[in-house]
Amino acid sequence: MKSLLVTGGAGFIGANFVHYWLSQYPDHKVVVLDALTYAGNLANLEPVNGLDNFEFVHGDILHTDLVVELLKHHTIDTIVHFAAESHVDRSITGPDAFLETNIVGTHSLLKAAKQVWLDGGVTEHRFHHVSTDEVYGTLAENDPPFTETTAYAPNSPYAASKASSDHLVRAYQETYGLQTTISNCSNNYGPYHFPEKLIPLVITNILEDKPLPIYGDGKQVRDWLFVEDHARGIELVLNKGKVGENYNIGGHNEWHNIDIVQLVCKLVNDAFTADGQLAKRFPNATKAVAGVAEELITFVKDRPGHDRRYAIDAAKSRRELGYEPVESFETGIRKTLHWYLDNESWWRAVMDGSYQDWVKRQYS
Ligand code: NAD
Ligand code: TYD
Repeated sequence: MKSLLVTGGAGFIGANFVHYWLSQYPDHKVVVLDALTYAGNLANLEPVNGLDNFEFVHGDILHTDLVVELLKHHTIDTIVHFAAESHVDRSITGPDAFLETNIVGTHSLLKAAKQVWLDGGVTEHRFHHVSTDEVYGTLAENDPPFTETTAYAPNSPYAASKASSDHLVRAYQETYGLQTTISNCSNNYGPYHFPEKLIPLVITNILEDKPLPIYGDGKQVRDWLFVEDHARGIELVLNKGKVGENYNIGGHNEWHNIDIVQLVCKLVNDAFTADGQLAKRFPNATKAVAGVAEELITFVKDRPGHDRRYAIDAAKSRRELGYEPVESFETGIRKTLHWYLDNESWWRAVMDGSYQDWVKRQYS
């Protein structure tokens, strides 16, 4: 039986991973450690809350002593480390929190793992670090996609902080023999995605008749992966990956930003045409009701240092782990749209701030 510590499990990908893991391994124990920053949301864990083998701990990865205690108390053998500051735009306006959580926080976890597992003689253990393709920098239109041997060239403070954390994980493996793996994944989308990121922002803004901001010319390219396929990729790395290795996980699914936004507009228009109830449920969505959501598209000033293109070559994961995404973009993006249409109370609570009521009560 495995006992997992999942950091950042109340965030977008962490929560989806926890749901996936407990559905696949109902006899495993999962402990989530999450500081519930603006990106953390207890509602993301509602489907698993109350299970005997699930526990939520409100705490910060920077607190090494807390992590040591959790590793010992729950006899944790696997850490899956998602906790991070994750939004590039925020890293441009306020990089400090990114260095603190992503670099110092990751080091705090590594120290705790070393103390409990290596110094304590726990031979069966794994520290899995969840990283991003953004560490590789940017690609020109005709460049081949990133492989695991592409040189790191991070461009945003977010990407630089993730690159630093990857190096620390590697160093703990090389120097101390901590059993680590790293996965570098492309852009995720799906349920519970915080509506500051492109796809959920576009969906919720259409429902509120707000402008859809497109940075620069909108011709930047991202490689989109349905979030559950990321969880499957991590599962394969944990079960079959070699200690000390990096694995790229991606969707073979490159899209220009403007095309994604136009596609989402079309899908929302179509949904409103097909279901007359939506106009009643979302009375602000006048453009969608009229079938012209794309009129909300607004070109705005570009992001500084905006990476032009990301694309993942996942051949190593395919070859060594048997990794293949199962969700097509067509089905994944429809599922995502319908999740936001069906879970209005989730994103309304994010927008009006009430999703943080529990956290506020802890300090009042
Ligand atoms: P997110 O911002 O939605 O969630 C981050 C979570 O970490 C939140 O629940 C937050 O409360 C928690 N957290 C932040 N600081 C913490 C701290 N000091 N201690 C404990 N918890 C803390 O992020 P996400 O999009 O789910 O990304 C998860 C991980 O996956 C990140 O490491 C990110 O770099 C990586 N990643 C994300 C993407 C993507 O497309 N979103 C793609 C590849 C890799
Ligand atoms: P984002 O979802 O922030 O992910 P990342 O920056 O990690 O790739 O952005 C995805 C792409 O969409 C990126 O090229 C920036 C662009 N973008 C916009 O054009 N408008 C927006 O309002 C946002 C949030 C992003």
